[in-house]
Amino acid sequence: MRLLPGGAQESRCAGEGRVVTTQLETPRLWLRPLELADAAQAQPLFAQWEVVRYLTNKVPWPFPPDGVHAYYRDVALPQAEHGEAWHWTLRMKSDPGRLIGAISLLKGREINRGFWLGAAWHGQGLMSEVCGVVTDYWFETLGFPLLRVPKAAANTASRRISERQGMRLVETKDGEYVSGRLLTEVWEITAEEWRARKAARIG
Ligand SMILES: CC(C)(COP(=O)(O)OP(=O)(O)OC[C@H]1O[C@@H](n2cnc3c(N)ncnc32)[C@H](O)[C@@H]1OP(=O)(O)O)[C@@H](O)C(=O)NCCC(=O)NCCS
Repeated sequence: MRLLPGGAQESRCAGEGRVVTTQLETPRLWLRPLELADAAQAQPLFAQWEVVRYLTNKVPWPFPPDGVHAYYRDVALPQAEHGEAWHWTLRMKSDPGRLIGAISLLKGREINRGFWLGAAWHGQGLMSEVCGVVTDYWFETLGFPLLRVPKAAANTASRRISERQGMRLVETKDGEYVSGRLLTEVWEITAEEWRARKAARIG
């Protein structure tokens, strides 16, 4: 095992490299690697219409009482174990025992980042803050060349995050959401574009 830039640990298993999710922070938040025990706090915050309406219709609605636990156990944690995804829960530094949302990075060609925040914490700039460090982790620690995210065009807050991060709208198509069929926008940014934006901000 060796330390990578950003403090992530790389453990090589059977000749295959994978990066273990490590704790990250922003000025206001801790990003803690997801654990099964987080499901109990996440469930009541996630199972709200305001949170799920613009998520893919793979999310069941009405949401089952053990839905988050089952997802963490059967999908999220196995993905993390196999180096296919990196999941964090979010906590305010002022109240670190309280989970307020989650963010994930996912390998693959279709969707590389997903996030949600409990409704009580919307509109405070928190996810914009989180997306900055997590996008940087995608490019600089994990070393991927491209970040691609589909989202419902109607999801103004999520869309603004893509715009403000300098992502490009590359495709529109229909998508199936918990709310039904909606226009989907696909946004992307390359590692070079991300680095150029960072350099411009520093310079
Ligand atoms: C999407 C989500 C994570 C945004 O988190 P947030 O912390 O509230 O977002 P921010 O406060 O950082 O705001 C991001 C931008 O959206 C704008 N915004 C926030 N809430 C908004 C709303 N309800 N309507 C319109 N714009 C909104 C903000 O003004 C900001 O724009 P600006 O940068 O031009 O000022 C949150 O709304 C959420 O959890 N939604 C449900 C889950 C979801 O849809 N996830 C994304 C799936 S693609």
